[in-house]
Amino acid sequence: MIEVKNLKKGFGDKTVINDVSVVMQAGKCNLIIGASGSGKTVFMKCLVGLFSPDSGEILYDGQNFTDMDDEARKEVRKQIGMLFQGSALFDSQTVEQNIMFPLNMFTKDSYQQKLKRVNEVLDRVNLKDVNKKFPAELSGGMKKRVGIARAIVLNPKYLFCDEPNSGLDPQTSLVIDKLINEITKEYNITTIINTHDMNSVMEIGDHIIYMHKGVKEWEGSNKEIIFSKNELLNEFIFASEFLKDAKDMRMLEQTGKIDNNRNMDDLIK
Ligand SMILES: Nc1ncnc2c1ncn2[C@@H]1O[C@H](COP(=O)(O)OP(=O)(O)O)[C@@H](O)[C@H]1O
Ligand SMILES: [Mg+2]
Repeated sequence: MIEVKNLKKGFGDKTVINDVSVVMQAGKCNLIIGASGSGKTVFMKCLVGLFSPDSGEILYDGQNFTDMDDEARKEVRKQIGMLFQGSALFDSQTVEQNIMFPLNMFTKDSYQQKLKRVNEVLDRVNLKDVNKKFPAELSGGMKKRVGIARAIVLNPKYLFCDEPNSGLDPQTSLVIDKLINEITKEYNITTIINTHDMNSVMEIGDHIIYMHKGVKEWEGSNKEIIFSKNELLNEFIFASEFLKDAKDMRMLEQTGKIDNNRNMDDLIK
């Protein structure tokens, strides 16, 4: 579990994260959604310690990350897995070397032990016979899988994914979302995902936090989001006219006011 209390972060006189408090539970996909520039990446970077917040607290299972000493901080970092935007693999290293990197950094295991672990996580993300391949030889979806394998190689308690679907087609995105969701549940990880992909929201959004200009504007589940009355949130999720119309149709159909087949035809025209 990660608890964020009254987090603030700005650059110069510009406030980017404005007094955000939120609790993110283990075994759940916690999605941070919001328009581009709303502060999702800055928020995530504060949580993992890449930015230091101006004020507020971040608690990792009760431990205050904001004021702990370097040694304790390193211990928490060891339990954090990160999937960066665009996977951020080392181009000049093979898949095996990429995934071994965190093991080299944080363990004193032998090569054989490390190799065993690399193969376990590769198997978990359904990749075979790619150990000696270089990132350039892989498809976008495969690179993401390698990124996920690297992120989970140290058995993290916390997993951060910044826009895991960027650059992927909708079908591959769904596969990646499902994989992250399965891993989250299987290992009881507290997973935080930045996204603006509404498919992800509906598919894996156990807990959704909507950010607008650095403020937490709404939070709830994927079951609640469609029926939210929050105007800013609605503008965001029903950004396309098609979806707005579809939502109205659903409402009317549910209340028996329209014949759904005929009106769906009108809508698609
Ligand atoms: N290192 C930085 N220095 C100054 N401003 C920054 C820095 N990083 C991000 N920002 C600003 O913070 C705001 C939020 O950015 P970001 O968190 O990247 O948005 P999102 O991830 O939601 O698209 C933007 O206005 C951006 O310009
Ligand atoms: Mg971002």
